[in-house]
Amino acid sequence: MPVNVEALRDEFPVLERVAYLNAGTDGPLPAVAAQAGAHELLGEARRGRAAEHFKRRRELSEELRGAYARALGCEPGEVALTTCTSEGLASVIDGLGLQEGEEILTSDEEHPGLLGALGAARALRGVSVRMVPLAEIAEAVGERTRLVACSHVSWMSGQVAPAALAELGVPVVLDGAQGVGAVPVDVRALGCDAYAGAGQKWLCGPDGLGMLYVAPALRERLEVSRRGYGNLLDPGAGLDARLHEDGRRFDTFALSAEALATALAAVELLERAGWRAVHERATTLAARLTELLAAAGRDTAPRGNSTLVSFSSPDPTAERARLAARGVVLREIPGRPLLRASVGAWNDERDLERLLAALRT
Ligand SMILES: Cc1ncc(COP(=O)(O)O)c(C=O)c1O
Repeated sequence: MPVNVEALRDEFPVLERVAYLNAGTDGPLPAVAAQAGAHELLGEARRGRAAEHFKRRRELSEELRGAYARALGCEPGEVALTTCTSEGLASVIDGLGLQEGEEILTSDEEHPGLLGALGAARALRGVSVRMVPLAEIAEAVGERTRLVACSHVSWMSGQVAPAALAELGVPVVLDGAQGVGAVPVDVRALGCDAYAGAGQKWLCGPDGLGMLYVAPALRERLEVSRRGYGNLLDPGAGLDARLHEDGRRFDTFALSAEALATALAAVELLERAGWRAVHERATTLAARLTELLAAAGRDTAPRGNSTLVSFSSPDPTAERARLAARGVVLREIPGRPLLRASVGAWNDERDLERLLAALRT
């Protein structure tokens, strides 16, 4: 069933005011999610925070893990709850314990969220990092390559990682910040060994929540140097405490009940709209925007079937500010002459027309 657009739009207060085309940064927050978070926090203020509170946090964590697993097409036990995409990527890249003489292959359009972890592997472990165009990455694997780490969907252009990555003999970790929630994700069909995603972007949750899928075979190989109450199976065992056996071993340490409840309400709202319909509508609308921009004389960066549309701008900083003043919210791509529109299932043709009209003035 297609998305009931008007009903979905009504859930997002920001859409009453502006053409919000910025989910690639932070998704629009549904009112129901903000209410769920506020409800949780007020309850804590009234009841205090003792044993019941910690039980509640654990319950919410498991519910959210289940919802994230459904969005990724895997089992809840294969998913860790993180604070953001970058944290999940760092856990995998650091956990592999690569050494001097070994190489990580990546693309030349990655986000600092991935580049930070790659830079750390280079600075702290002497690992070499080689960059190639995203479209050519599968063919560029060499003898020294021990990991391929790249975007599922590029944040700069909206290009999609090549399907050939599924056939590689080396581990692949995908940066799914612009993937999960935006486009269909099935980690097994993608053939990746790990997939890190964000809760605050296309899943419309609060800042401070993300997810990490790790395939069972890779899970065994990753060292987990960061251990604490949040990822230990038997924390009471002190120095002998063991890590959780499943994906929970990569869990971050301290997620609040209010953040968990907000994220859960948001992802459940999108689930009710239907993932297939949400993806279909968003990618179709993004393709429509590409046509409208072309007709308006704006070049778009080569993209895939995604929800991001990056287009030429003579002065991205000034134009972004001008668009914001006209109620159109999007972002610029640093260092490139591009503005980027993020198109979600909650957007409609009027949002696109508002962008086009603002670009003309
Ligand atoms: C491709 C990509 N990777 C990583 C990140 C960082 O995301 P997070 O804040 O969830 O770590 C972003 C954020 O925009 C992104 O677009």
